[in-house]
Amino acid sequence: MITIHFIANNDPAAQGSALVKSKTGKSLMQAAHAAGVDGIAADCGGSLTCATCHVMVREPWASQLPPANADELGMLDFTALPRQPGSRLACQIQLTSALDGLTVDLPASQY
Ligand code: FES
Repeated sequence: MITIHFIANNDPAAQGSALVKSKTGKSLMQAAHAAGVDGIAADCGGSLTCATCHVMVREPWASQLPPANADELGMLDFTALPRQPGSRLACQIQLTSALDGLTVDLPASQY
């Protein structure tokens, strides 16, 4: 199990923020949905066609992730909040034990 911090409005105490325990081997989006985290719509269910699972990954984890592929980079042009440093699509982040403590910021809206 790893721990993931979802932070809303740059404030861990803000409504929508969550501290989640998750098994590895699933996507960040799946972990968020399983835990009922607000702020990740994921309308396409992880098929990389909606860009409503946008998160901003904080360091040091952002630099540990495999780079986004061309399809993810293309979808990041369609997020509601323009691309930020650390912007990724949660459905494309596979959780591993190395990501224990992963911290991501949630956009105010996915639409
Ligand atoms: S869930 Fe649709 S692009 Fe990630």
